[in-house]
Amino acid sequence: MDKKTFYITTPIYYPSGKAHIGHSYCTVASDAIARYKRMSGYDVMFLTGTDEHGQKIELKAAEAGVTPKEYVDKIVAGFQDLWKLLNISNDRFIRTTDDYHVKSVQKIFNDLHNKGKIYKGKYEGWYCTPCEAFWTETQLVDGKCPDCGREVKWAEEEAYFFKLSEYADKLLKLYEDNPQFIQPESRKNEMISFINSGLGDLCVSRTSFSWGIPVDFDPKHVVYVWLDALTNYITAMGYGSDDDSDYKKYWPADVHFIGKEIVRFHAIIWPAMLMALDLPLPKQIYGHGWLLFGDGSKMSKSKGNVVDPVILCERYGVDAIRYFLLREIPFGSDGLFTNEALINRINYDLANDLGNLLSRTTAMVEKYFGGVIPSEKESADLDSELIELATSLKAQYAANMDKYQFSNALGDIWRLISRSNKYIDETMPWALGKDESKKARLAAVLYNLCEALRIISILLEPFMPQTTPKIQEQLGVNADIVTWDNADKWGLLPENTVIKKGETLFPRIDVAKEIAELDEILLANAPKQPAKEDKKEAENVALIGIEDFAKVDLRVSEVIACEPVKKAKKLLKLTVNDGIKERTVVSGIAKFYKPDELIGRRIILVSNLKPAVLCGVESNGMILAADSGEDKISVIFVDDIPVGSKVR
Ligand code: ME8
Ligand code: MG
Repeated sequence: MDKKTFYITTPIYYPSGKAHIGHSYCTVASDAIARYKRMSGYDVMFLTGTDEHGQKIELKAAEAGVTPKEYVDKIVAGFQDLWKLLNISNDRFIRTTDDYHVKSVQKIFNDLHNKGKIYKGKYEGWYCTPCEAFWTETQLVDGKCPDCGREVKWAEEEAYFFKLSEYADKLLKLYEDNPQFIQPESRKNEMISFINSGLGDLCVSRTSFSWGIPVDFDPKHVVYVWLDALTNYITAMGYGSDDDSDYKKYWPADVHFIGKEIVRFHAIIWPAMLMALDLPLPKQIYGHGWLLFGDGSKMSKSKGNVVDPVILCERYGVDAIRYFLLREIPFGSDGLFTNEALINRINYDLANDLGNLLSRTTAMVEKYFGGVIPSEKESADLDSELIELATSLKAQYAANMDKYQFSNALGDIWRLISRSNKYIDETMPWALGKDESKKARLAAVLYNLCEALRIISILLEPFMPQTTPKIQEQLGVNADIVTWDNADKWGLLPENTVIKKGETLFPRIDVAKEIAELDEILLANAPKQPAKEDKKEAENVALIGIEDFAKVDLRVSEVIACEPVKKAKKLLKLTVNDGIKERTVVSGIAKFYKPDELIGRRIILVSNLKPAVLCGVESNGMILAADSGEDKISVIFVDDIPVGSKVR
């Protein structure tokens, strides 16, 4: 019999900037499900890709002095490298610049036009270029883009429209008949109120830029991004091409994983387009939450405060990052991403709980039995609780995975890990090992621990595909007993299995030292924005009132002492006199100034900045310097002005 299929997708990401940890989050989650479904017997199709057209990319490319295609090629290669690094098992990668996609989108556009679902009209409104969004007067917030807060401009153009307004009732009925269609539940209510506030028709073409798929019957128009983007989920399967066998096999998708900010496009526009095309609808839209930075903002490319996933993988290992992303934050919710939380998870969950369980178990099998557990085993009442927990784990885990509750599924596994560690404390193998008459009992204890680890290794594979083979190698198990089918069976580890202690899975991290080093990396990477981009940003920076500026207290101060900060190559520790008192300020200028060049000089100090600890030194203020972004920083000197003068 043919296997049941399972089709899962990520959003196709904009290659307007480098792939970041937010993209990684959704892609890792999708990968865990793809692996879980494959393991449990499905024929899986796992699609990801890039959304390469649009004005924003056209502008970025122009600024970089390359063609849009050259621009995206480079960034897309970075996305693909990152997915390789993160062990992403996608079956396909679609680029909206791929030929087959372009042709199918043109065909879809024509079909909708022929069916009377797309018509020509005129678009006008307030346009935000970075967001590529038109807004109505009432949607603006303080006259600015409600999404990014930047300036908008009035724009008007001839455009094609999709008759989205026809679908309000059908969409409401869809949600009602299929309570699973939008998950989590709260996002569904948002969609219902959105529809009830009135659905207009949707602009699906543009004439104001050319980096897009041309409308073939009216080539001054290019297809506007969402029609181009959403259709990727079917064009990647060959819809509209000569060979649509995969489309027939895998569509409709079982789930589209997306971030909550694009649920509206996926739960309203996408099903409406499919209805207009008379095609089946995806079974579920799952809008996951956002990773937030320490300051509560969404980490996004446009704001530039990104935790580089490549650096994270290099420092902690891919599986630690995968684990953290899916354990720390319940999938539907927003959650904070902090390096400290990450390190704590590595130390407690991975090094202590999982790592120790494996290393203690394998070390004891080697120590007491030379690596092979004897066949004579004596069980005890105590064992049944462990065995019961281990063999019931799979069902609980599956229930959570089927609901995409990664954190809970991992919690299930960690309950068995903790129980196993407790079992070691209870059975005290080191005491049994001292008594020759307890050898059979000791054999049973160690055997049970190996069996628990075998089950753990099966269920962890979707999350930690690099680590689980290492566990299985140390346990000496053959592939046939670490299958899904065997994840709820006990006693499969054969006699004569050779167990061998191997490398430590997750070395413990010294938190304070690590945080100090991370601070240094952040500083080193922060000013590297190209100068052009900074200048461009300047045009978009929000205006402030004089009262805002007056909040910043700037004082001429004299550098009295200066020395490098230990362990931080970029940092200098300065002692400055601000006219009233002396204070310590840490500054990331060590690459550009030697301490001697600064002592005795007068600089401008931001004197009312909240204190911050950098590499273990408390900094009370900041000195002003100009940053060209091209590896050059100049401190602003004001040597002929009295110390304590105010700058305004
Ligand atoms: O929206 N936290 O592309 P995009 C969690 N091309 N997830 C995040 C995140 C964060 N801070 N930042 C990004 C687009 N993501 C369109 C999609 S689909 C037909 C077209 C993830 O590059 C999250 O999954 O802005 C979000 O939906 C996606 O990246 C947006 O990527
Ligand atoms: Mg986005």
